[in-house]
Amino acid sequence: MGYSRHIYEKANSILSLRRQNAVQQADKKREEIYSKLPRVREIERELAQTGYRAAKAVVQGEDTREQLLKLRDTNLRLQNELQLLLVKNGYTTADLEEKYRCMMCSDKGYIDGRMCDCMKLLLRDIAFRELNELSPLAPSSFDTFSLDHYSNDPDENGKIPRKRMENILQFCKNYADNFTVHSESIYMEGATGLGKTHLSLAIAGAVIDKGYGVIYCSLPDIVSKIEREHFSNDYYTGTLAHLESCDLLILDDLGTEYPTPFNKSCVYNLVNKRLLMQKPTIINTNLTKQEIKGLYSDRLISRMLGEQVYLKFIGKDIRLKKGRE
Ligand SMILES: Nc1ncnc2c1ncn2[C@@H]1O[C@H](COP(=O)(O)OP(=O)(O)O)[C@@H](O)[C@H]1O
Ligand SMILES: [Mg+2]
Ligand SMILES: [Zn+2]
Repeated sequence: MGYSRHIYEKANSILSLRRQNAVQQADKKREEIYSKLPRVREIERELAQTGYRAAKAVVQGEDTREQLLKLRDTNLRLQNELQLLLVKNGYTTADLEEKYRCMMCSDKGYIDGRMCDCMKLLLRDIAFRELNELSPLAPSSFDTFSLDHYSNDPDENGKIPRKRMENILQFCKNYADNFTVHSESIYMEGATGLGKTHLSLAIAGAVIDKGYGVIYCSLPDIVSKIEREHFSNDYYTGTLAHLESCDLLILDDLGTEYPTPFNKSCVYNLVNKRLLMQKPTIINTNLTKQEIKGLYSDRLISRMLGEQVYLKFIGKDIRLKKGRE
């Protein structure tokens, strides 16, 4: 997947910082060891010399075998001495070397010209963080979700809000606990202030903790970002690609985006693509089915409702209730 240049630049500067850190830490540790155990430095010098002599012996080609064997013995003896000395003083030979975060590429990001997995993860991470900065993933959790806000009395349709919301809460907890890239998609519907965003973010938090890539965004924000990218020179910054490919995508406030043809086709393509690829998506809306029908094609609506678990939130606006308390 392609990323915009500034994401590569960020990743490279993070890797370069990691390398600098590793080198600095190792320097510090070495200084500490040298000052406590001066013999360590001597051994290192002698070891470097045996290496140099071996190279010379090979180049000059005289008595090479015997000389090389002797050098190998010296080398082994020095290495043993070094190891013993270090261990006796609570160190290991690894303390003399840089400790890179990635053993595979020594924090260079590339191995023989191929991108290392650590670099791929880093790029993904930076891109996700940038997308989530647009609508920050505010911490919200299942623990702060209280059923007390929902009435035990039946509503106008004879449904008991607390019972309904208890089931929804349980469903969302199970969903988060058992999340995989093959999880179902969810469609949350209900009036404002009933906890749709709260529960979506609680799922997001739990799924992120499991190590998945989650993007949360409100639809009006994200479509205007995509539109800006589309009509600017730096067209491909990969936003759409990330939305299409992340492990869990949460699209909040469906129906509050301006219903321009661009926005509508953007939402259609995104949702349709993810449903086709069976990638889990959570869509939230304050609008009723009837209202959504006025905005989007029957095809999209029937796909969303047909292929997503439908959760209908009921009750009274909690923001207002909380305000009164
Ligand atoms: N069951 C709940 N327990 C505690 N706080 C809640 C609950 N439901 C919603 N809230 C809080 O009420 C406010 C509105 O909820 P929100 O999730 O944004 O509603 P919606 O997305 O359905 O419009 C938020 O501050 C949210 O944290
Ligand atoms: Mg909301
Ligand atoms: Zn690496």
